[in-house]
Amino acid sequence: MSPAIRKIFLRIRGDDTIIIRMRTQKKFWKLGRKECNTEVFDVNTDAELIIREGNYQYNVHDLVRKFGSSLEIFLPFVVEERLNRLFTIFDRNMKQAGYRGKFFYHYPMKVNQNREAVLPLVSEGAHLEVGSHNELTLVRKLWESDSVNTKIRILCNGPKTKAYVDLIHHLAERSVRVVPIIEDASELDEFKEFKGDIGVRINLQTKVRSHWDKKADRFGLLADEIVELGKIRNLKLLHYHIGSQIERGTDIIAAMKEALHVYKKIREINPSLDTLDIGGGFAIPYEKKPMYSLETVSKAMIATLKKLADVWEMPHPNIVVEWGRHVIAPAQLTIFKIVSAKAVPKGLAKFWYIIDGSFMNDLLDTWAIHQKWHIVPVNRINDKKKHRVWLAGLSCDSDDKYTARDGYVSLPRLEDLNPGEDLYIAIFDTGAYQDAFASHHCLLSSPLKLVLQNGIVTVARKRETAEDIGKQFGW
Ligand SMILES: Cc1ncc(COP(=O)(O)O)c(C=O)c1O
Repeated sequence: MSPAIRKIFLRIRGDDTIIIRMRTQKKFWKLGRKECNTEVFDVNTDAELIIREGNYQYNVHDLVRKFGSSLEIFLPFVVEERLNRLFTIFDRNMKQAGYRGKFFYHYPMKVNQNREAVLPLVSEGAHLEVGSHNELTLVRKLWESDSVNTKIRILCNGPKTKAYVDLIHHLAERSVRVVPIIEDASELDEFKEFKGDIGVRINLQTKVRSHWDKKADRFGLLADEIVELGKIRNLKLLHYHIGSQIERGTDIIAAMKEALHVYKKIREINPSLDTLDIGGGFAIPYEKKPMYSLETVSKAMIATLKKLADVWEMPHPNIVVEWGRHVIAPAQLTIFKIVSAKAVPKGLAKFWYIIDGSFMNDLLDTWAIHQKWHIVPVNRINDKKKHRVWLAGLSCDSDDKYTARDGYVSLPRLEDLNPGEDLYIAIFDTGAYQDAFASHHCLLSSPLKLVLQNGIVTVARKRETAEDIGKQFGW
């Protein structure tokens, strides 16, 4: 990475404060850059978007013309690469620091429960985190198909309904390493006789800069409440999740430090406690500025944990991360065709470009949390003459739109298209959360989904017909 693009300063002061500072330049996001998670994307000589997987290459323009739009393209090899990078960085930094705890990655299934997302992670050594009975049922299926390593560990978060508790017990009796995470003191009663490891979730006081940093958080127990529980049989793990898309790396460290202080107190009563699970939250550069890097945060985490544990003469805790968005978001892109344009009478944009899908249905966070996206044309990428546009979905809802971070998106002009040519756009980093939130407002169809792996293109989800959707609504 060129120092002109970003400079990171990591300094550990005499106390245990880690300082992370970044200097950034203006034009940050581009195709083909590791720090933008776009290293597999490029543009060919015909100004079309292409994807590279080693020596394989996929032409997105050809794919969308063959399979139609709207289209989702999922890239398992990106997931595998990101997970392996996570392992490499933590392992190396732990070794260099003389850290004696172990590092584990638990993939939070809520982020993307699709088979094509979960299987590559499991195959590369990810453990899992589930938040509901239904997610755990998928794990049961995996287990019963005899296709997972019997050492895989499943952290069971979320409120424990009766069906969920029963399934945890059922799997534990069949030697699955399921770990119930106690979110509420009453849940402990359900696991009094539980033979396996137990986790407990703490509700931290630290606040982080993130959309999800709510004043009142209902998840987990306060530090004092956990300490008051005293001895918890087979307590192995202290867990928290402080928010998603955490904006500052220093906030990740601040939350971890608070949790470690509580960890120490609980460990005095429960010496079996040996793992700190810091949950999810590592951010994706959806915005125009670079985020903190994995390297920096990993180093800061290890340095902080080691320093405090050494001072307290406590074994270095094993570290669990549940960074879902970080691993899976860049593995998917969503493609729409521009079906028509309409003049904007007054506004920053000149035209509405109508897409053949829906932001509200297919990329719901656009509406729910004003999520920003990087958008690139799939064809005519090098056109110099562009229009400032707003994008609108096919549904009847006036909120089904995307007006971008700058107040408009710059896209090729439809009047420049050749006869019979269409304009397509690619929206990046759509692999996290959007599929499970997807809906059918105005009974629009979900995008067809392709999986690209080892040079082979597979249809993972067919295009829904009007009949298919009608059936879901009892017709
Ligand atoms: C308990 C827990 N772990 C992990 C995650 C994943 O968060 P992220 O995708 O931001 O890493 C979530 C998301 O809500 C969560 O609730």
